Amino acid sequence: MRKIVILTGAGISAESGLGTFRDEGGLWARHRIEDVATPEGFARDPALVQGFYNARRMQAAKAAPNAAHHALARLEAEFAGAVVIVTQNVDGLHEAAGSRAVIHMHGTLAGALCADCGHRWDAPPEMSPAHACPACAMPAARPDVVWFGEMPYFMEEIWTHLEEADLFVSIGTSGNVYPAAAFAQHAMRAGADTLELNLEPSVNARDFAQARHGKASEIVPQWVQEILARA
Ligand code: OAD
Repeated sequence: MRKIVILTGAGISAESGLGTFRDEGGLWARHRIEDVATPEGFARDPALVQGFYNARRMQAAKAAPNAAHHALARLEAEFAGAVVIVTQNVDGLHEAAGSRAVIHMHGTLAGALCADCGHRWDAPPEMSPAHACPACAMPAARPDVVWFGEMPYFMEEIWTHLEEADLFVSIGTSGNVYPAAAFAQHAMRAGADTLELNLEPSVNARDFAQARHGKASEIVPQWVQEILARA
């Protein structure tokens, strides 16, 4: 086995204290997606949207990676082949654990983006709609996260990684949001083995050849240990 491609979702950060979206009491039970995670919502009420992401940025800044993040960093450091993490998460916990090959397909809370000219810079802890873009001076600063109705980042690179994968592993994601929910099928059609590691079967569980269910902090380190022992 030469290449492992791993998709992560909110479930891997749940035990670091960051809420998931669709579990009971999750973010989407308390906020309307249309209000806080769409370009239209931002156009209607930028202060509400900035406030939502400011709160998440402050919470993420206080969070520490858990055993699952650390295990993936160990896998990247010790596995003889390539390990690539594609994350839907906007926190920085994979990097905080030491992972280096991390692709943020839904952007990151650490980044600011000018909605007017596309310039990117480091987000301050609290963003406000009045913040001017340092490049074009327009008051059009937004979090550099991907909203519903927008194209996720790095998609060409990601499809290529999936086509090159010998093993595709999905961790802590419910399988509700495309295109990430199509990655298992894409990798499988290109010849990869597929494994789901999640608290419960995801909505696209049948796209995986194998599955293990449990807490990420337990099942991810176990799986990493097995892969490294086999290699
Ligand atoms: P979800 O909240 O939809 O799903 C989280 C998954 O993690 C569920 O299947 C849970 O069962 C599982 N889970 C919860 N706790 C866990 C634990 N301790 N260990 C292992 N698994 C656990 O989150 P995502 O699938 O990441 O996009 O959501 C995908 C996208 O939808 C997000 O990136 C975000 C959201 O709307 C945008 O905002 C564009």
